Amino acid sequence: MSNVRGKATEAENISDGNEPCCCAECDDEGLSRRAVMGYGAAIAAVGGLGLAGGAHAAEGPLNMPVQPGDRFMITKGKLKQTLLTADLLESGARPVEGFPVTPDKHEPRDVYRNNRLLMLKLDEAAMDAETRARSAGGVLVYSAVCTHKGCTIKSWMAKQQQLRCHCHLSIFDPLSGGTVKGGPARRQLPAVPLEVDAEGYVVAAAGWTATPGGAKK
Ligand code: FES
Repeated sequence: MSNVRGKATEAENISDGNEPCCCAECDDEGLSRRAVMGYGAAIAAVGGLGLAGGAHAAEGPLNMPVQPGDRFMITKGKLKQTLLTADLLESGARPVEGFPVTPDKHEPRDVYRNNRLLMLKLDEAAMDAETRARSAGGVLVYSAVCTHKGCTIKSWMAKQQQLRCHCHLSIFDPLSGGTVKGGPARRQLPAVPLEVDAEGYVVAAAGWTATPGGAKK
């Protein structure tokens, strides 16, 4: 534990600004509610759904896990509300946050809050074979939901190229399939296998490799 804490100053925040803890043990409504509200206008504009769009959200496509063919929308920072292409990301830079979006109307599937994901680009030569096979030009997509107790993973350790959860300091290695490298988490981070579509967008080639979310009590 002391080693892990010692590395804390080397980590970059993935999110800009202060967000409340969102683990399963805390008030977890902040991020999800903001995301839904923030996209309400965008959904209406893109899909022409208006209030009817909200009515179907609880059980509709926005409450489904990532599906094959989904694109990915960046939801934070300078690239907010941009659909992911490989050239948007700098190799080795901190991940960006987002959600999968439906292939047709690009509606974020953010009602299913375990779809929160991290998008990053790394050196393919440094990946293990299985991880490389899932990447698209070095781009990888992982669940942003810590497999320990469900906090949103917020730290990027650039030197080590590892993700760290601030809640109890679990560490995950994106170069080797999100395997746990430290802390109390027992399960690797689920990932989304990727490919590039005909228009150059990064899309899901399949659904989550495992069910995202924190460990059941
Ligand atoms: S919730 Fe992430 S380490 Fe505990």
